[in-house]
Amino acid sequence: MPRRRFMAAGAAIGLAPWVSAGAPAAQPRTLRIAPAAQKLVGAAHPATEVWAFEGRVPGPELRFRQGERLRVEVRNALPADTTVHWHGIRLPNAMDGVPHLTQAPIAARGGRFTYEFDLPDAGTYWYHPHLGSPEQVGRGLYGALIVEEREPPAVDRDVVWVLSDWRLDREARLVDDFGNPMDASHAGRIGNTVTVNGAIPDSFTVRAGERLRLRLINASNARIYAPVFEGVRTAIVALDGQPLAAPSEARLVLGPGMRADLILDCGNAPGSKHRVVDDFYRQRAYELLEIEYSREAPLRDSFAPVPRLPANPVAMPDLANAQRHRIVFGGGMMGALPRQDEHKGMFWTVNGRPVREHAHHEVLLDLKLRGSYVLELVNDTAWHHPVHLHGHVFRVLPRGHLADSVLLDPRSRAEVAFVADNPGGWMLHCHVLEHQASGMMATVRVS
Ligand code: C2O
Ligand code: CU
Repeated sequence: MPRRRFMAAGAAIGLAPWVSAGAPAAQPRTLRIAPAAQKLVGAAHPATEVWAFEGRVPGPELRFRQGERLRVEVRNALPADTTVHWHGIRLPNAMDGVPHLTQAPIAARGGRFTYEFDLPDAGTYWYHPHLGSPEQVGRGLYGALIVEEREPPAVDRDVVWVLSDWRLDREARLVDDFGNPMDASHAGRIGNTVTVNGAIPDSFTVRAGERLRLRLINASNARIYAPVFEGVRTAIVALDGQPLAAPSEARLVLGPGMRADLILDCGNAPGSKHRVVDDFYRQRAYELLEIEYSREAPLRDSFAPVPRLPANPVAMPDLANAQRHRIVFGGGMMGALPRQDEHKGMFWTVNGRPVREHAHHEVLLDLKLRGSYVLELVNDTAWHHPVHLHGHVFRVLPRGHLADSVLLDPRSRAEVAFVADNPGGWMLHCHVLEHQASGMMATVRVS
């Protein structure tokens, strides 16, 4: 390339603000799922055998613009059947990736399936298998799916942190006791090693005066995160991909499957360091990583107000005339465990029944297309449950923010309202994957 043209191209890249970066880069047309090896815990330790999309954990970050169409062929080179679910996307039922409900499993060692659908909502989403999830997600199968707004807010950088945890032995090998009764009947598989984007991070470098959009995705089987950014101004602008009506500085708690978009205004001095501490499990708070300011002069001295994201086209339920349903989640240790003679290995119930993983013949709720519904979700157990609904987003009452999951604290309840505007059979389940696989899932039919 002639030097002048090269310079011009370089300058354009250097100066262009993020928002005018142009069309998203060409997206992969295939996602190959296969065993791989990855250094999770640093160069000094051996690589860990994982399962991965396209050879690394997390899988490729898929980025589209709102309204675009995703088309991806999944090629399964695992020794196990699989499917891919596009968590949080309002898509046609046949593309939802639920085995035995919306599609046949993608066969081990060579099966293929093409997913193709439009992306109606901007936001932070993710993809993961929906078959044998405790093991398949636990071995590393997940990736970010980002749908950019047609006019994204002005930020200097848009960064994704996929949070996950692993149960490793001293040689950095995965302990393969997936779905064991101890995990399944208690809090689920909580690992001993937390990674950000597939590696133990030590620091994350920012520049003073920089405004970041940070997208957090909890891809852990069971671990809940409550990251606190010490000394750095953060505002939550979206939960589960769906914009909040106003930026919030409330404590952020992310159950498995949940996402948050934050605006970080890096207002500290060049060269300073600030911890990000996860203190969800109060007695076991730990430093997730350190935010390290470079020595460069500040990019700006003050920040414009935190931007609001444009709302997604989600229908508003008619609360006054909505039909109500009460759904009780039960079971677990210190709770009403299902009888083990009849329901061996099942530890959890939905309205009194333990449902085997992907046994969809029993329908919990039959909903009318375009009807408005309020679900009262009751947690009658001693454990946390992030309850997730497929194919729809709901409003979490009473405040009414949109989400596709709601984290139920032990012995608590929540109400969610939505319009059943997507026909088909949809899963409602706990996203602690060991709970889902041992009884805490149900099928909702919209027709
Ligand atoms: Cu991310 Cu049914 O799940
Ligand atoms: Cu649960």
